[in-house]
Amino acid sequence: MTTMFVPSFFTLKVNGRNVVVEADPKTPLLYILRNDLALNGPKYGCGLGECGACGILMDGRAVRACTVPIGAVSSRAITTLEGLGDQGRLHPVQRAFIEESGAQCGYCLNGMIISAVALLARNPDPQEADIREALRHNLCRCGTHVEILSAVRKAVVLCKAAAIAAPSASVHSAIPEVQA
Ligand code: FES
Repeated sequence: MTTMFVPSFFTLKVNGRNVVVEADPKTPLLYILRNDLALNGPKYGCGLGECGACGILMDGRAVRACTVPIGAVSSRAITTLEGLGDQGRLHPVQRAFIEESGAQCGYCLNGMIISAVALLARNPDPQEADIREALRHNLCRCGTHVEILSAVRKAVVLCKAAAIAAPSASVHSAIPEVQA
């Protein structure tokens, strides 16, 4: 006997914008972001929550979108790589990764940046051990670890400079609101 799939409608807040999607509640959020919303910053790597390529921010915390069913997202605020910034207005962490060449093939880049943004939001002055711990479960198959660590160190400096330039701003307030 085949199991009936009963789709439901879900309202998500993604990159500052409300969107409605129809899906099986068990559908991984990653599939919704990539296939329904054409947000391809988060990548499919392992599909098991182990590589970090699918990283997103949920209420400011880094989570793995491949392991979150759409039915569990509720009213959480989701930010993808696309919501951090764009070429005209890069997030300081994105800028740091470009300036330090923190990518080779680039497949892990989304997860690395998301993890770094989450780290700096909760700890604006991380020590080397904090940075390594925050990125410990993000896999890079190209061996670009040295450049990635340099990028996060530079991001610390750039985020502090941004905070000095706009004292009331936090790292997350540097995330631009996407207009509906
Ligand atoms: Fe989600 Fe690997 S694809 S952690």
